Amino acid sequence: MTAEEFVAALDAENQARLRGLEPDATLAPEVKGPLNVPNLLKVALRNEAEATVIAARWLATSDDIKLVLALARQAADEAKHYELIAKRLAVLGFDADGFDPLAGGFGPLSAYLQTLRTSVERAAAGQFTREAIAIVKNRQFIEFCERAGDKVTATLYRDVIEPDEYFHHQLGRSLLLRFAVTDEAQELARRASARTLALAEELQQAALKTAGIHHAPGC
Ligand SMILES: [Fe+2]
Ligand SMILES: [Fe+2]
Repeated sequence: MTAEEFVAALDAENQARLRGLEPDATLAPEVKGPLNVPNLLKVALRNEAEATVIAARWLATSDDIKLVLALARQAADEAKHYELIAKRLAVLGFDADGFDPLAGGFGPLSAYLQTLRTSVERAAAGQFTREAIAIVKNRQFIEFCERAGDKVTATLYRDVIEPDEYFHHQLGRSLLLRFAVTDEAQELARRASARTLALAEELQQAALKTAGIHHAPGC
């Protein structure tokens, strides 16, 4: 299979599975307190912090220049999202300065991503697939904000964060076209992508069971 054929097939498979995350999905079961925009934004802070750290660690341990540049861009964007969300939380009455979103350690998805060593797995799992999940989840969160009457947070996600996450997904696509050029690399990518989706599905089920959460934003 050529890299183009492989990426098209993986995309189709992922999109079919992502429909299973709709309309009730989340990557983050641990909302503390009632289900509202500020509490979901605290979950978002953790997701953005984890995404920043993973991209930065991979950046320091990748040797392909295209991947290094993509990870640098992603790390900067996720850090920017963190700041924007923290500012929005301040307006909503929560001071994020004294809040350590990583105090409890990585969630299961970031813990898995951290184990990936090859460029093709990092592109497949961390960018192409995780960012596709983020797009689905952010759309749900935007709808939740609108139903809650929070147009400012909805606009922040629609106009700034969501386009960046889409760009990260597209970075993953172009990197996969670069790396997924052998049967072996394609198999690594397929497995990393499937594991990422499986972890998202498991977290969704846990979140629904424990907290009734459907709308936590991704990164
Ligand atoms: Fe992202
Ligand atoms: Fe983000």
